[in-house]
Order: sequence, then structure tokens, then C-alpha cells
Amino acid sequence: MVDVVSGSPTVLITGGAGYIGSHAAHAFIDKGWSVVIVDDLSTGSRSRVPEAAAFIEMDCADPQLSAIIRDRAIDAAVHFAARIKVDESVADPLGYYKANVCTARAFFENAHLAGLGAIVFSSTAAVYGDAGGAAVSEESATRPESPYGRSKLAAEWILADLCAVSPMRHVILRYFNVAGADPEGRSGPAAGSQHLLKIAAEAAVGIRPAMQIHGTDYPTADGTCVRDYVHVTDLAEAHVSAVTHLLGGGGSLVANVGYGHGASVRAVIAEALRLADRPFAVTEGPRRAGDPVSVVANPARAMDVLGWRPRHDNLQAMLQSGMAWERQRMAGEVSSA
Ligand code: UFG
Repeated sequence: MVDVVSGSPTVLITGGAGYIGSHAAHAFIDKGWSVVIVDDLSTGSRSRVPEAAAFIEMDCADPQLSAIIRDRAIDAAVHFAARIKVDESVADPLGYYKANVCTARAFFENAHLAGLGAIVFSSTAAVYGDAGGAAVSEESATRPESPYGRSKLAAEWILADLCAVSPMRHVILRYFNVAGADPEGRSGPAAGSQHLLKIAAEAAVGIRPAMQIHGTDYPTADGTCVRDYVHVTDLAEAHVSAVTHLLGGGGSLVANVGYGHGASVRAVIAEALRLADRPFAVTEGPRRAGDPVSVVANPARAMDVLGWRPRHDNLQAMLQSGMAWERQRMAGEVSSA
């Protein structure tokens, strides 16, 4: 057991040059941990790696990583490295299974061979599929509707099966709709992301003159889809809570990361218009294929068992931090990656 209060544990972060991974790296560093980032930069950006982190440019499936985990006395790992676009996964299932299942399996093997005892795995609400609008608990049925969701669920199974026959313990975090940027401006969403909060932040700072609502005839209060948007900084801190749980001797578990309440597309856009530097046009378009009506987490386990305490449960804060990041990008102050 590692004393995470007085000691200075070392955490390995795969995919730490990506959007969520880099926020997690900052969260660990801010709490005094040592961080080693492994990223092959296939989608991540070197500019996102915090200065205080050690950086190794490497595919996390590379068998050499096992010796690195041992030599650097890594206490725990967080595995983010993955591909994450639902539509892209439909077009390229083999690519997604390779990145999200084969590479994850190889990384788990590297960790196992190094004798690592604690892994946190980055998973998604996409493993649930359409839950019909009820708040989703970890016991809800898993019915992923895309190769992306299925690839993440398969990797969850591999990790759980490995931990069942080894001293390794794990926390699987299933993220709901991740949004916003580091309040200190050190990282933010990737360029090219098509997520609602990202598009709304871009429109609000004038990068795009208009945005579209994908479907206005859903059976919700205002006819648009509802999602549980979670601030990336709170999500990052859920990883610190999860690793702390494991290093404190806690058992393996799956936990949702969301706030337990949702916002509709119209509510998000209304808030973005209120905060906008200049007005932008909003058009109403047809439904986007495959969108579930409402996806909201039951986050009780993350709070009760992991001790996760979200501090940014606020749509305005998510949009404002996202807008600040877009302004930094426009000014060329941060890499556009
Ligand atoms: N939307 C718009 N206009 C836009 C962009 C999005 O109306 O310009 C709508 C979408 O149609 C959807 C809602 O906003 O109804 C949220 O869409 P996002 O693309 O932001 O997020 P998703 O809910 O589609 O996807 C998220 C994660 C995925 C994960 C999925 C699981 O980003 O990784 O939830 O439910 F797989």
C-alpha cells in the first residue's frame, strides 16, 4: 500500500498528450504526484504534455514499456490511449478494435508483467447504449451501439478478467459527456472535435457564424436530446480519486462519471448565446443518426466509494472555460492541435 498522503507516488498516463489525459496529468501534478506520460502522438499533441511530467514517445503496446514501468517504480497507471469517435468507428471498425482492444490488451500485459498492482481504465457511457432516458447505474445493461462502444466494453472485460487471476486491481471509469477546458488554460478540447459544447464555444467566440440543432422532435421537454455534461477538470479529478482508492487498498470496481442531471441541446445553446461575444445563428436540422434521446448518469458510486467531489457542475463554467480555450487558439497562444 502506498501512502498517498505523505508519499509522492508515481502514476503512468498513457494518452497523456490528449484532451482528457492531459487534464488528468495536470490534476495529478497539482496534487504533488509524479507523472510519466506515454503517448505515440498519433492523435495527441506534445504541446499538451505538462512541463512537470516526464514524457516518453512510445506506443503503449510496445513490450519495452514493461521494463520502463518497473525501472521507474510506477505505482499505478491510467490508460487513456484510444480512439474516441463514434462515427469514425463505424467507418473503420478494424482500426478501432486494434487501437482500443489489441493495444489495450498489450498494455495490460505490459503492466501485468511489470507487476503493477493498480490500473484505471478510461471507458465511456457508450457501453450502455440507449437506456431509454432513465439515469444509468453501473448495473444497467451494456448494449453498445457502435464499434467504439463495443471496443471499450471488450477492453473492460479483458482488464476485469486479468484482475480476477492476478494481484492487479482496477477502476473502470465510464465517462458521460466530457466538456470544457482547464480553468487555467493549460489544455482544452482537440481541434476538429464535433461535440456540442465545443461547437457552441466556437460559435460563442465567433469562430463559426452558426450552429445547428440536430433534431427538435425528441420526446423531451423542449424536443432536443439531453446529456449529462461533465467538466473535464472534475473528470480529471475522478482519476485521482480512483488511483487513490486503489493505492489505499480499495477493490476493483466500475464507476460512472457524470453529475446525475442533464441539459438539453436547446439549453446549452441558450447559455452559449447568453455568454457569446457576438450573436450567432442557430438553425434546426434533422435528427443525427444514432443519437439516444437522453443519457444521464447515476454517479453515486464515484461519490460514495471513490470519494469523488465534483466542483464544476455548472454549464456556464464549462462553456466559459471552453470559450477561453478557443480565444487562446484564435490568438495563436496554444497549438491548434
Ligand atoms: N448536437 C447538436 N448540434 C451540434 C453538435 C451536437 O444538436 O452541432 C447534439 C447531438 O445531436 C446530441 C447532443 O448534441 O444530441 C450531444 O452530442 P455530442 O456529439 O456532444 O455528444 P454525444 O452524446 O453524441 O457523444 C458522447 C461522447 C461519446 C460517447 C457518447 C455516449 O462524446 O464519446 O456520448 O453516449 F460515445
